[in-house]
Amino acid sequence: FVPDAVLRVTQQNITQSCLASKSNVLINGTSPGPELRLLEGQTYWIRVYNDMTANNVTMHWHGLSMAVSPFSDGTPSVSQWPIPPAHFFDYEIHVPVGMAGTYFYHSHVGFQAVSASGPLIVDDIHVPYYYDDEKIIFIQDTFTNDFETIEEGLVHNPLVWSGEAAAILVNGKGGGSANGTACNASLSVIDVEPGKTYRLRFIGGTALTFSSLAIEGHSSLEVIEADGSYTQKTNTSYLQVAAGQRYSVLLHTLPNPTQSTYYIQLESRERPTITRGFAILNYGASSPPSTFYPPPNSILSLPNSTIGFLDYQLHPLNPTSFPPSSAVSRTVTLTVHQAVRGMTIWLENHYPWVETFPTEPYLISLYKDDGIEFPSMERALQNSGLDPVSRAFPAEIGEVIDIVLLNTGADSGGLDAHPWHAHGRHFWDLGSGNGTYDAVENEAKWNGKQPALRDTTMLYRYGTSTGNGTVQGWRAWRLEVTEPGVWMVHCHILQHMLMGMQTVWVMGNETEVLDKVPRPEVEGYLTYGGDVYGNE
Ligand code: C2O
Ligand code: CU
Repeated sequence: FVPDAVLRVTQQNITQSCLASKSNVLINGTSPGPELRLLEGQTYWIRVYNDMTANNVTMHWHGLSMAVSPFSDGTPSVSQWPIPPAHFFDYEIHVPVGMAGTYFYHSHVGFQAVSASGPLIVDDIHVPYYYDDEKIIFIQDTFTNDFETIEEGLVHNPLVWSGEAAAILVNGKGGGSANGTACNASLSVIDVEPGKTYRLRFIGGTALTFSSLAIEGHSSLEVIEADGSYTQKTNTSYLQVAAGQRYSVLLHTLPNPTQSTYYIQLESRERPTITRGFAILNYGASSPPSTFYPPPNSILSLPNSTIGFLDYQLHPLNPTSFPPSSAVSRTVTLTVHQAVRGMTIWLENHYPWVETFPTEPYLISLYKDDGIEFPSMERALQNSGLDPVSRAFPAEIGEVIDIVLLNTGADSGGLDAHPWHAHGRHFWDLGSGNGTYDAVENEAKWNGKQPALRDTTMLYRYGTSTGNGTVQGWRAWRLEVTEPGVWMVHCHILQHMLMGMQTVWVMGNETEVLDKVPRPEVEGYLTYGGDVYGNE
């Protein structure tokens, strides 16, 4: 057996931006890890070795559906046991035709994905848009403390917050500001030629940062892909990339540039402080500025508000099988709320995930029939979609569900914005707003056009929370349930995820789900152990 690719996970001290060297989880020795390139319509086996000595790991193929091999989804305590130190796991990855686009892979254990991630590109058999070349812009953030300290703090009683992002990185490098002070660290250089068309693939590999970004001197960008689905060309002068989101943008470079280099500027949004990062678009300067100096605070001024960015504007390039509202069998509302119960935790529909974290993964438990009870649709229907016994949201194959996420902030009065992400299958993004979600009114906004398929979209915050549970923002998705399996739906801010902002969906009945699992020949699938915080 020869795997198609091998990823080796290590824990090492590295220096990022202007921060002191600290421990990070790396993939093949770097962060971001190597670029994986797959071709649509193919099947791959990727072997992941855990070369760490004290932490477990899993790998998740963010945005790709593991419908054919749910055991490969890389969600600890949901689809698999994490891989213990000195062990490996072989992930089986099917990439259906039609899934060409921009993705990434990341560890799904604890806070590791802050560094343990890398670009995953699915190449097209036929590319629908013309471009001369392409460039990856992998966005990460980094913090003063190391991932283990942050993990412990987030589940500590009382909460020890991670702190805000200390720096924003592009392709692993970043300067401009770190911890709010000017930072002259080296920048990533994106080489381009005049008068050409480039596909820029932006990947939101951040833990916390919602990046607003633009390119100096280049204000007409055309979005052509969002989260692995091609869209009709949509013009914008800037982008917003949340944790977990990806966009491809066509950039037409200047025929006669007046400068040899232009800054790409990134700024965090929806946080109490602004963190800035920069990269360089280089038109052939033989020695482009390798650092950000002299460091003015900003070169571009980016819009402050993030609300509604590209909502109702993205349409699929080719018509999809978008089900009309008459096909919707039920609406599941998922209300997020923060409570302090000793620990500070996020609740979904009033249920805590952290307090009841299962040790044995759902999928294995269902397979072995020795732990979690198979979710009951009957109980779920009486409890706004969530079965209180299994703590899962069941769904039947063939159902079309509208999922409405509601933002209600915190008991303490705080209110955050959240990039919600779904595993298993892409949803049609129906948009967002404040107040009450009205399906008929919302549908009218689409004016007969189809919404784009996405896997990560924003639950915005409107106003400030009063602490009394008032809904201050909704986001609506339409999901056609087609893939049996056990899938996570969660906020992609790693801090929030660890504080409980995650849900598990069991799609299909017992026979359909278990039919997908029996791969006992996959080394370690039924025998590994350990928890999501890395302990064996
Ligand atoms: Cu990148 Cu569960 O997600
Ligand atoms: Cu969140």
